[in-house]
Amino acid sequence: MEITIRELQTDEQAPYALLLLADPSLKLVNEYLPRGICFLAMYQKEIAGVLVLVPTRPETREIVNIAVKEEFQRKGIGKQLIHFAIHKAREMHTKTLEIGTGNPGVGQLLLYQKCGFRITGVDQDFFVRHYKEEIYENGIQCRDMIRLSMDI
Ligand code: COA
Repeated sequence: MEITIRELQTDEQAPYALLLLADPSLKLVNEYLPRGICFLAMYQKEIAGVLVLVPTRPETREIVNIAVKEEFQRKGIGKQLIHFAIHKAREMHTKTLEIGTGNPGVGQLLLYQKCGFRITGVDQDFFVRHYKEEIYENGIQCRDMIRLSMDI
């Protein structure tokens, strides 16, 4: 699918519906948005996807949010956004790129590993500790965060 990727402009509203699709906590989204760079995948004039890249530790950045509009999913946009983020992170002298996903996120786990991430650990009960409401995906509760990382 022919898309272009660009940064969200300072005078532009962030695509909250998309950001909340990946992360139902508005509080957390508003906390990390100003600390990171928000990339938009554009299909013609429409925002088809979003990715937020945040510096976490020295030479380390994390993709804290990635989402693709439902009607655009499974067309390679998520993969393109991640490859774009890897390229940008390298330009910013990042050595380690990290990402996390909930325990039910089998599609996400496949996508991230296809992009080169390796599983490094599990943050047990992350979603129970940090989210007020219970989250369900693929018929099971999202409790633990699977952590993945890549040397870039
Ligand atoms: N089930 C199984 N495999 C999946 C998958 C799914 N739902 N989504 C992605 N994959 C894997 C497949 O191997 C796919 O390759 P294929 O289509 O050739 O089989 C590969 O990842 C590339 O997928 P791609 O088309 O680039 O992903 P996408 O554009 O659909 O974006 C998400 C993936 C996760 C960003 C998108 O599904 C989404 O926005 N989901 C809701 C929000 C979310 O969960 N965000 C992540 C929070 S951790």
